[in-house]
Amino acid sequence: MKVNGEDYRAIWWEGDAVGFIDQRLLPHRFESSSATTLSQVADAISGMAIRGAPTIGVMAAYGLALAARIGEQIDDAYSLLVGTRPTAINLKVGLDAVMAAAPDTGAMLAAARTHDESEVAAARAIGVHGLDLLEHGSRVLTHCNAGWMAAQDWGTATSPVYTAAREGLNPFVWVSETRPRLQGARITAWEMLNEGIDHRLIADGAGAQLMRQGRVDVVITGADRIAANGDTANKIGTYSHALAAHANGVPFYIAAPLTTFDSRTPHGDAIPIEERDENEVRTLEGLTEDGELKRVAITPPGTQVINPAFDVTPASLITGFITEVGVIPATPEAIMSALKLP
Ligand code: MRU
Repeated sequence: MKVNGEDYRAIWWEGDAVGFIDQRLLPHRFESSSATTLSQVADAISGMAIRGAPTIGVMAAYGLALAARIGEQIDDAYSLLVGTRPTAINLKVGLDAVMAAAPDTGAMLAAARTHDESEVAAARAIGVHGLDLLEHGSRVLTHCNAGWMAAQDWGTATSPVYTAAREGLNPFVWVSETRPRLQGARITAWEMLNEGIDHRLIADGAGAQLMRQGRVDVVITGADRIAANGDTANKIGTYSHALAAHANGVPFYIAAPLTTFDSRTPHGDAIPIEERDENEVRTLEGLTEDGELKRVAITPPGTQVINPAFDVTPASLITGFITEVGVIPATPEAIMSALKLP
């Protein structure tokens, strides 16, 4: 995707470093950074300088290749990186792809590049298949950021929208703000603006009301892990949108590459759900009138919080998965067949 006329991806390899756009600063600042050590890669993932399941997988893949090149113990590097975020299975898929080429450092870097390019191709193909679900002027509701910051170059949930825009179909997007870290308000809204796509930002709770009023044609979100039975973990709040979509007869699709499907996790209750720091809910960060990024408290001091970063939407609420091999139903049989497993 282009920013100010220049091509960017969320992550890239540069010499012996992993370059990335620091997503914590968006939309206020568009700045890139680079990781030259294993701990910098791990911190970028756990601290959410980069985020979104496929992007996490690509970062981990380059990170492991980098670790091997700078002489880190490969098994230790794998263990460190695989523990940085627990829910997105793409992390492990990216690491395993590179580990398969160990200990040849050249082959490990080549494997990371191949993983990166295949995620780009998958995201692109998701857009082509997802286009069939959209009509002229379709109103799409999305949650969190499953855009090109989250999946190299096209995004997953946004890929059909970007494809529709390029086909002149004039799509419209309801952007759900996504408390507590506001990936929708900060990143998806920025992506839509950058791509010139008509959109409105909504509070997370507004989605159900818009669906009840018949103002949403389809919901499309991304995923962090899809269990063998089709239950899907995605950003906290996705399940609420799925329930509202079901109650109002609105189709609810999950857009995800095959790297997000985990045939070894039998159902949603077996997906590990990341719990993040309480302060993500107690505080908000934004730009002051003086252009300074500032974090402020929004609760009484010491308010106790629980902060699950993801929820699980049962397969029964999912109309289908938009993947690089086509749109498939949310059934174990269709998933096994797409993964070419017996
Ligand atoms: O915590 P995040 O920002 O990494 O969560 C991101 C999401 O939940 C996305 O919807 C998901 O990773 C799919 S990204 C194509």
